[in-house]
Amino acid sequence: MERNLALEVVRVTESAALAAARLMGRGDREGADQAAVTAMRNALNYVQFKGRVAIGEGERDEAPMLYIGEEVGMTESPRVDIAVDPLEGTNLVATGADNSLTVIAIADEGGFLHAPDTYMEKIAVGPKAHGAIDITASPTENLRSVAKALKVYVEDLCVVILDRPRHKELIRECREAGARIKLIGDGDVAGAISTGKATSGVDILMGTGGAPEGVLAAAALKCIGGDIQGILRFRNQDEIRRAREMGITDLDRVYTINDLAAGEVMFAATGVTFGEYLRGVRFFSGGAYTQSVVMRSKSRTVRVIDTTHYFEFKPKYE
Ligand code: FBP
Repeated sequence: MERNLALEVVRVTESAALAAARLMGRGDREGADQAAVTAMRNALNYVQFKGRVAIGEGERDEAPMLYIGEEVGMTESPRVDIAVDPLEGTNLVATGADNSLTVIAIADEGGFLHAPDTYMEKIAVGPKAHGAIDITASPTENLRSVAKALKVYVEDLCVVILDRPRHKELIRECREAGARIKLIGDGDVAGAISTGKATSGVDILMGTGGAPEGVLAAAALKCIGGDIQGILRFRNQDEIRRAREMGITDLDRVYTINDLAAGEVMFAATGVTFGEYLRGVRFFSGGAYTQSVVMRSKSRTVRVIDTTHYFEFKPKYE
């Protein structure tokens, strides 16, 4: 995969973040999402690749832009698969809460799991606990194993969990095991990535969130040597039907990080609202500041990019 793509894809996430940030705190999650989708789609058509959407806004009949299978880009090569979440944390932007991101990941063709838009149970850790997780084991066993890998007590660990009623039992068990917990309102991609950042104070992500978000988190964690496992969790027969149509035969399969994101991958994200991982968009007279990250699994390079945008001189992606 071309390393020059790294800077190009940051322009894409920056563009989506600048558009979504305009709607911060306006209580309009659909509007913010739409603004991000439109901006991302337009910017993608200026990237020097042919990108096929593997994870996007849904199937062709339900998403006018960035639908699964859509091809974007300016040139015929290199041919890559892309996974996008133009706005990860729509509620966070609508309420002005922390940690919303715009996200893209790139793999060679066929590299991403074609995850249906259902839930996925996930467990994710940073590089020091790589290999210490097993989603088929109990939360208590995983906490003990991760604590051992990190050479700390279970009581030292902090587990990040989406604050949802479905996690009542998981939260109870983690507390009983002695671990500390950070409940988040939304945004388990940022939650998963934070396990790989030494200063985040978070060691492990557990619980069930979106399956497409699981693929994006896998791409990010692969770039930093972290680990993630997932099992699809279906809410109804319609979701099972859709999954089968997308080629999923074993509904209970445990997906490893390499099943979710195979081969070499690249991951980029830009902060929309303020976050522990990335600062959000800050507007000033005639422009804005953004902060982004771009990383590649091949080199394990992690670049944090602070950008100053002057709107008068900015190319218009239309
Ligand atoms: P959106 O940006 O699509 O709103 O997703 C936010 C999110 O919190 C994801 O990070 C997470 O995977 C998923 O929603 C959890 O779904 P639910 O809100 O249904 O529990």
